[in-house]
Amino acid sequence: MRLLVTGGAGFIGSNFVRYVLGERPAVRVTVLDNLSYAGSLRSLEGLDPERFRFVRGDIADADLVGGLVPEHDAIVHFAAESHNDNSLRDPTPFVHTNLVGTFTLLEAARRHDVRFHHISTDEVYGDLALDDPARFTESTPYNPSSPYSSTKAGSDLLVRAWVRSFGVRATISNCSNNYGPYQHVEKFIPRQITNVLTGLRPKLYGDGLNVRDWIHTEDHSSAVLAILERGRIGETYLIGADGERSNREVVEAILELLGEPSDAYDLVRDRPGHDVRYAIDSSKLRAELGWAPRYTDFRAGLAATIQWYREHEDWWRPAKDEVEAAYAAQGQ
Ligand code: NAD
Ligand code: TYD
Repeated sequence: MRLLVTGGAGFIGSNFVRYVLGERPAVRVTVLDNLSYAGSLRSLEGLDPERFRFVRGDIADADLVGGLVPEHDAIVHFAAESHNDNSLRDPTPFVHTNLVGTFTLLEAARRHDVRFHHISTDEVYGDLALDDPARFTESTPYNPSSPYSSTKAGSDLLVRAWVRSFGVRATISNCSNNYGPYQHVEKFIPRQITNVLTGLRPKLYGDGLNVRDWIHTEDHSSAVLAILERGRIGETYLIGADGERSNREVVEAILELLGEPSDAYDLVRDRPGHDVRYAIDSSKLRAELGWAPRYTDFRAGLAATIQWYREHEDWWRPAKDEVEAAYAAQGQ
């Protein structure tokens, strides 16, 4: 099995590459990544060169993609512009990568009849009220809020149309918020951990009561592998690990685990259009493919993630000041 993994130098993609090479000795991986601000070859250090190859390039480059795709049995498509706050500052690269890039990959998958798995987010469904007992399912209507989530929603719809109109052998997964090693310091959990480690106070948007449904990135990887190997073509699977927590609860846990008072955080300007709550019902994935998460103790997963950031300051330090300056410029 030869896999073409797009966005494999990013957070979830690099964790997936390590996971699949560890779990499947017969798999070989090519990573295609343009090494945007969010990608780093350091996240892929130490992999066996016999089974792993890196290609630097843009997923919207039709010539490059057209040459690579026929050398592979499947495409696992992680590459994206992935941060909501950036999409509010400038949506342009989101349209390019998430829409034009996905389109370019789909056209190559169609031409060469290569299996395609599309990685997406629960944010395509919009948000839920805090007191709503409902969770997202595969039949929840699309209702994205931000330039990020709307371009991800558009990319999902392209995949569905390429399945129906052209018979592309594709599956889609929509996962909840990931945490774990190698996540960029612009994102919520790494930002707060590295704030405390550098003597800054954690920053909560608005009242801090927005809820996210957290999953460890390794559980995301095991779900993607299950869908890639055993998922039904044309189907969408929601991935989640019943990890609903308010942002305030997460920050309090980080502060406690780092030995700081649990109220040593600041409330800052809210994100415009800030989604209130996400929650995933992953029954279909569990019932159909027998998948279950391994990281069911969030506090233990968070403690291990904190430990990773403690030990890998050289990985995150170079990006930290610029990220904080950009947040400070907008009162966050
Ligand atoms: P990330 O920003 O850490 O990584 C994205 C990677 O894509 C980077 O390595 C970047 O260099 C690469 N990339 C960006 N534009 C590219 C282009 N035009 N050509 C080639 N490579 C390009 O993102 P992530 O958090 O690892 O997210 C990966 C995928 O998972 C995305 O599709 C995202 O929508 C989805 N997802 C993320 C989460 C989450 O919590 N982070 C949750 C659900 C789904
Ligand atoms: P984020 O990691 O940006 O993921 P997403 O927007 O895709 O859910 O943010 C997670 C939650 O944390 C979201 O409700 C916004 C909030 N947040 C803060 O309160 N402070 C911060 O510094 C950041 C980056 C996010």
